[in-house]
Amino acid sequence: MSENEPITGDSLDQLRAQYAELAALAGSLAHEIKNPLSVIRMNMDLLAEDLAEPQSPRERRALGKIEMVGRQCERLENLLNDFLRFSKVGRLDLHLGNLNDHVERVLDLFSAQAASSGVDIVRYLDHDLPSILLNGETLQAALVNLVKNSLEAMEGGGQLIARTRLTRHGVALDLIDTGIGMDERTALNMFEPFYSTKSGGSGLGLPTARRIIEAHGGRIGVHSEVGRGTQFTLEFPMPARLGEVPAGT
Ligand SMILES: Nc1ncnc2c1ncn2[C@@H]1O[C@H](COP(=O)(O)OP(=O)(O)O)[C@@H](O)[C@H]1O
Ligand SMILES: [Mg+2]
Repeated sequence: MSENEPITGDSLDQLRAQYAELAALAGSLAHEIKNPLSVIRMNMDLLAEDLAEPQSPRERRALGKIEMVGRQCERLENLLNDFLRFSKVGRLDLHLGNLNDHVERVLDLFSAQAASSGVDIVRYLDHDLPSILLNGETLQAALVNLVKNSLEAMEGGGQLIARTRLTRHGVALDLIDTGIGMDERTALNMFEPFYSTKSGGSGLGLPTARRIIEAHGGRIGVHSEVGRGTQFTLEFPMPARLGEVPAGT
């Protein structure tokens, strides 16, 4: 297709099919890499065990190198897992559920880690929140990515506020942290796959979260200030009222 050619329904279908094929290919490639990688890492762990008490400077150096290879394998494994999660988000099976329940579950998961790094988690959950259509497990995966980022932005401690509220169009969740915030470049690129400012970051947390929110018919907004903190707002639509009968019938 040339650059100036209008995109017709047919060529759009063709593009979609090509995209799906490439995505499937990338997914199988990631799977194929995972297996030999885990064999390499297992053997690195075994070698490190053998050298657990180095008897000479040479053995000590060898142990250092083995541990370094092990850490890089672990990093690759995390990257592949994040990538597989990212490429897997497609059409979701949605059921009526309460946003608060999933927010609570994810915050509970992180409460020990937050406490140990001096982060205070504050919950302002609206307990009259109506149900929305959601896929609990996948939604929690998105929330995990967001909360993890907030905690990583507050290594010296701080506060994370989770607030749910009713909006004109649906229900919303605000996640507000007092972390390092984002500079302009990061704010522009944060949803780009593989964009990360962290050493060892996969850069797939936010793109995955956004895909998941959008697969719920929702959207994600961000406001961030360097040195002050970051607010993410997720908004989900109200389900069409089931069984509603128009007046006068
Ligand atoms: N709450 C936050 N506070 C500050 N920066 C953030 C926050 N969330 C995301 N970011 C920025 O967005 C980038 C992309 O995030 P993400 O996609 O989760 O990748 P990763 O966490 O692996 O770097 C991060 O590297 C970081 O610079
Ligand atoms: Mg992340």
